Amino acid sequence: MAAPTHRSASALALIADDMLEVDKVIALRLDSSVPLVGEVAKYIISAGGKRLRPALLLLMCGALGYQGTQHYNLAAVVEFIHTATLLHDDVVDESTLRRGRPTANESFGNPASVLVGDFLHSRAFQMMVDADDMRVMQILSEATNVIAEGEVQQLMNTHDASLDEAGYLHVIRSKTAKLFEASARLAAVLMQSPPEIEKACADYGQALGTAFQVIDDILDYDGEALEMGKNLGDDLREGKVTLPLIVAMQRGTPEQSTTIRTAIETGSTDQLHAVIEIVQQTGALDASREAAAAQAQLAIDATSQLPRNSHTEALLQLAAQLLSRRV
Ligand code: IPE
Ligand code: IPE
Ligand code: MG
Ligand code: MG
Repeated sequence: MAAPTHRSASALALIADDMLEVDKVIALRLDSSVPLVGEVAKYIISAGGKRLRPALLLLMCGALGYQGTQHYNLAAVVEFIHTATLLHDDVVDESTLRRGRPTANESFGNPASVLVGDFLHSRAFQMMVDADDMRVMQILSEATNVIAEGEVQQLMNTHDASLDEAGYLHVIRSKTAKLFEASARLAAVLMQSPPEIEKACADYGQALGTAFQVIDDILDYDGEALEMGKNLGDDLREGKVTLPLIVAMQRGTPEQSTTIRTAIETGSTDQLHAVIEIVQQTGALDASREAAAAQAQLAIDATSQLPRNSHTEALLQLAAQLLSRRV
């Protein structure tokens, strides 16, 4: 694979105008007669975010040659679902920083965050009905259900230092990759593509989403809060067992493994610096990067089933660029 040097913005340049259309739909559909709904929803949505899931849906539509306008609506739907999960996730994770500003729970409190998350979720369902397509409903309802299941599974796994790579992968496929998969699959559904094309789209989305979350979990130990717009070390504080820790426990000396196990079991960040050092020294970050790269390669492989055009090229670029993201 070519060295991923550029930032994801360049892969997304092709759909910049389309993204403006999506932004219009988002702004239009945040309407509510209850002022606090709009206030909280706009607070988190106006902070930006990478808008990766709508971008993926639009790029995939471009790759398949979609000519309609329903994709703007569905792109806004997946961003609403994503935003709703973030509102809930930050409550669950007791996070205080998101997209470079205090989280909604920090600014408005847990009740407002949970309830506005519900509003965004249900608004997304109202909007997906507009697509008037049972398959669209099926894919998005399944995705939201699997995401919720993944978050609950992760909750059950917290402080469990015996979690293995397979258990970790199952959680991140559910909580994160599933929405990427759905976003990519929806393009094929809009196009009424044959099953093998739909599968290629879904495979691309799943692999990309998996790589994305592995990188996110690396950045929790190796990133910059200023760049990421969220606090580092949160995973350890929550007792969340991610790939860097799993690999470090496998590769470390018995003492090193014990340090990590204890940190996971207690959720204490007293040893955060020691843990970061162990994660680096044992090569666990590099091994995790390799795991992310293997997923990115699966995404790249899946594009061989797609038509060759500039949008498909951008999908290839995106898979490579995500590996070097710092944001
Ligand atoms: C954050 O997703 C949640 C994860 C799956 C790691 P993003 O990193 O895509 O969040 P925004 O939308 O860009 O803020
Ligand atoms: C993101 O999970 C939430 C979902 C994918 C539903 P995390 O808790 O790992 O992500 P951040 O670090 O808060 O963005
Ligand atoms: Mg979180
Ligand atoms: Mg979480």
